[in-house]
Amino acid sequence: MRSFQTERWTVDKTEQPLTTHPHVIQASLWIKKNEVIAIPTETVYGLAGNAKSDEAISRIFEAKGRPSDNPLIVHISERSQLEGLVSSIPETAKKLMNTFWPGPLTIVLPKGDEVSEKVTAGLSTVAVRMPDHDIALALIEASGVPLAAPSANLSGKPSPTTADHVYEDLKSRIPGIVDGGSTGVGVESTVVECANDLVTILRPGGVTLEELEKVAGFGHVVVDPGLENEKHAPKSPGMKYTHYAPDAPFVLVDGSPEFLQGLVDKEREAGRKIGILTTEERMDFYKADCLIPAGKRSNPETVAQHLYEALRAFNEANVDQIFGEVFPKEGVGVAIMNRLEKSAGGHIVKE
Ligand code: TXA
Ligand code: MG
Repeated sequence: MRSFQTERWTVDKTEQPLTTHPHVIQASLWIKKNEVIAIPTETVYGLAGNAKSDEAISRIFEAKGRPSDNPLIVHISERSQLEGLVSSIPETAKKLMNTFWPGPLTIVLPKGDEVSEKVTAGLSTVAVRMPDHDIALALIEASGVPLAAPSANLSGKPSPTTADHVYEDLKSRIPGIVDGGSTGVGVESTVVECANDLVTILRPGGVTLEELEKVAGFGHVVVDPGLENEKHAPKSPGMKYTHYAPDAPFVLVDGSPEFLQGLVDKEREAGRKIGILTTEERMDFYKADCLIPAGKRSNPETVAQHLYEALRAFNEANVDQIFGEVFPKEGVGVAIMNRLEKSAGGHIVKE
């Protein structure tokens, strides 16, 4: 593996014009050399490279330690860049673009001739999105090419929502990180596939099923059965991998705070150091060695925003075991629970 002195290029979003910002230019020069750099988006930080260069794509997979059968999302700044990238766009997909782009929605479309097999991991489709982040958009423009970018974490770790998280995982593996501060949404984009009038959610994320239904029509949005039912393989290759795991074993607790505390007490009596992934409302209720709130239960968007940061924070606390609260599976709660279940490797204790 090649080794770099990883630089940090700070960019303030409010400085205009961003496309000629010295740090944006500097980062785009690396992209033009087919190197890979980390960039902020509205969801999580991405590890970006020229989507049209096999060399750049190989470097993304290498820096992340990503399995080569897991395809990447291509990020664009203008719809005109879809030419050559995709071979056709169904009407429903156009409607979704009109409403949700720029924003946290990734659409899987038939692949065009200009996309390398490496980006799509040999699939006949390509995943595309237009991020709602001025720095990301400026970088795509300054680089002059669409950017392929997975989340900028080491494969298997929680996705990064700050430049510090990226540095933790990828220092010396990449030449630089564009630091645009904390990302907003906190969980990744929703990945969908469109066929005829049907929208299938392959990965829940920042755009909710309810929001998609408003555009595609009630009853025209379904969830890939492979996400919930082990008998089906998920349609999105990335959904089969262990992901978002903290260092210590992590168990979700579907029950009352009293029940969760009972589990914690038993472990602590046996001399083990226990952490609880909780919410601000319940911080005063629990007793444990380390309590980390992921946001406010009454405002699930804040839980999405702080979820990965909270999971990462347990690694510093050196606990032997983590217990976590569950959330209602509605709105962004679906994405939150999808990530928590993966993070816990499917380990759930019911009251
Ligand atoms: O918010 C996001 O989507 C972030 C930011 C950086 O844009 N990116 C991200 O990328 O989460 P990544 O690589 O961590 O996750 C991409 C997901 C994976 O589950 C992958 O399998 C799926 O999208 N995917 C990519 N191309 C696909 C395709 N052609 N068909 C089905 N799933 C695809
Ligand atoms: Mg990822």
